Amino acid sequence: MIDASTPPEPLAGARDLFALDPAYTHFNHGSFGAVPRAVAAARRAVQAEHDANPTRFINTVLLDRVDAVRGPLAEFCGADPDRSALVPNATAGTALALAAVGLGADDEIVVTDHGYNAVVLALGEQRRRHGVRVVTAPVELGASDDEAVEAVLSRVGPRTRLVIVDQISSATAQLHPVAAIAARLRELGIPLLVDAAHAPGMLDRPAAGVDADFWVGNMHKWAFAPGGTAVLQIAEQWRDRMVPLVVSHGQPDGFPACVEQQGTLDHSIWLAAPAGLDLFDRYGADAVRDHNVRLAAYGQHVVGQALGLDPAELADPGPGVSMRVLPVPAHVAAGHAAGSRLRARISDELRAEVNVTSWRDRLFVRLSAQIYNDAAEYDRLAETLPALLR
Ligand SMILES: Cc1ncc(COP(=O)(O)O)c(C=O)c1O
Repeated sequence: MIDASTPPEPLAGARDLFALDPAYTHFNHGSFGAVPRAVAAARRAVQAEHDANPTRFINTVLLDRVDAVRGPLAEFCGADPDRSALVPNATAGTALALAAVGLGADDEIVVTDHGYNAVVLALGEQRRRHGVRVVTAPVELGASDDEAVEAVLSRVGPRTRLVIVDQISSATAQLHPVAAIAARLRELGIPLLVDAAHAPGMLDRPAAGVDADFWVGNMHKWAFAPGGTAVLQIAEQWRDRMVPLVVSHGQPDGFPACVEQQGTLDHSIWLAAPAGLDLFDRYGADAVRDHNVRLAAYGQHVVGQALGLDPAELADPGPGVSMRVLPVPAHVAAGHAAGSRLRARISDELRAEVNVTSWRDRLFVRLSAQIYNDAAEYDRLAETLPALLR
């Protein structure tokens, strides 16, 4: 159990590794990550190489380089490099999984009520275009692993063709027992997509031991890659059934080339991604994770106390999670639009970047913690946020 009242020691020099605007405090690493200066420099170096001779770079160097980075990025995730492809993001990975499964009228997809908005919208399109039914399993905040597994499995039926579960949810910052859900669904022969958008870099080798049909994790959130870098791991039986969203030169080569090549793209993003992993070596991956988890707990504790929240109202996200949510007072209007307005006010008036999420008719302030944050920043938010929410 973490002692939330004691923040971790800062990691020396970490703040200077980032180009973040000092006029703002950055508590929203979870949404878009932050690119370290060294990663931006690595990317510029690749771009310079490309720009010096695009024909030679693309025809003789690029594909080998993509091959060379896929392995280390997949291994960092605990994924099998031979069953992994680089994709732009979790949204694209989800679309690829949906295309591979190929759902039709009255097929059912089971999701939890913690799912990410863009994924929920993608499922809405499956309903609209193909008549797919979306079945939502409510999972309580702070549910035990057994309760979460049963909540999902209890919605699985004879028409279920796919289950989607977030490894760490966006709106609620909850860790879900995806390995246990995968094992149960494997026995039933029902495919599982794990939306692990937040997992790489936050959790240690998050794909390891998760026997899911599809697992997709963003490297551009917690693994310090430039935006547009994600790992999609598939189970072997899907290799020949992958349907690229954009068919291009890699099509005859099958997975992963068929999903990685999509005409001309800026691959400097993927090629610079390994430089993000160097930050874990610099401090030690365990030290980075320990710092972030403890600082997030501290942030939730001090801001929660300042808001007069009962500690019992503060959701424990589960082990290893470095984002935490705080319920916004019930008198504040709920819904996505109200959440965006509140986020913008906190940014404008407090010069603090947070995420405001919307879940079950309630807004939550979501605070992330990263190596560039320190305890004094959460103390300041604790002083200023209550008045804004009054
Ligand atoms: C759970 C979850 N899934 C999917 C996404 C989408 O990630 P991307 O925009 O990189 O596709 C996010 C982004 O925050 C997320 O939190």
